[in-house]
Amino acid sequence: MAGATPRIVILTGAGVSAESGLGTFRDVGGLWTQYDLNEVATPEGFARNPALVHDFYNARRANCRGAAPNAAHEALARLSAALPGQVTLVTQNVDDLHERGGSRDVIHMHGRLDTALCGSCGHRWPAPEMMTPDDPCPACHAPETRPDVVWFGEMPYRMDAIYRALLRADLFVAIGTSGNVYPAAGFVAEAREAGARTLELNLEPCDRHGAFDETRQGPASVVVPEWVDEVIARLT
Ligand code: OAD
Repeated sequence: MAGATPRIVILTGAGVSAESGLGTFRDVGGLWTQYDLNEVATPEGFARNPALVHDFYNARRANCRGAAPNAAHEALARLSAALPGQVTLVTQNVDDLHERGGSRDVIHMHGRLDTALCGSCGHRWPAPEMMTPDDPCPACHAPETRPDVVWFGEMPYRMDAIYRALLRADLFVAIGTSGNVYPAAGFVAEAREAGARTLELNLEPCDRHGAFDETRQGPASVVVPEWVDEVIARLT
């Protein structure tokens, strides 16, 4: 059976966590309609006003701690458990709802809210609830604490592992992402070129819509479990 099981790469975005109460970025009322991303999500913004940037991520960390995974997160964990070793889950989200929904080995290409990073020595440690610019790094003691998130202009994490998985994928699925931000927005084209079938699960067709073989529209908490149940019924 394992030999016949397709390798699946799944990319999730803010839409997968929307029904858990975490805002998206570009929808009406989204985070980037309320905040200037140049001020809160760039290294230059952090250098200008680290307290403002910490406040922004402290608030998001608090929102995240108060949120619970939804049926979409749980369904994706069920899929990985049903097809061991066949599913690579890549998320652009900095929340931990995939993990709390039961997924393991999630690739957080844009980093995580629950980790702190030393801008001086690169040490990582569990993020306290509230971070401030004066927090010293526990390893080198430099007061260079920052959220362990990837800002615009920085290189997303684990790109080698992601491209390796895309090259071997039989199926690429994008869930709840608008397809605005590269390199993630380019994954569908990479996967297609490598021969994968491509599927989009989203509330509305995303900007890369034309690159997908199939689109299913609807809230993630509905369309993701439906698709997962279909795949599990077909393959196990
Ligand atoms: P966006 O806010 O750009 O897009 C969210 C997508 O989710 C849209 O296509 C919505 O239609 C869809 N959506 C909303 N509610 C949904 C629901 N209940 N079910 C399914 N889909 C739903 O968020 P991302 O594409 O994740 O990066 O944004 C990508 C990156 O841009 C983020 O990781 C972040 C941001 O700037 C950084 O901060 C580096």
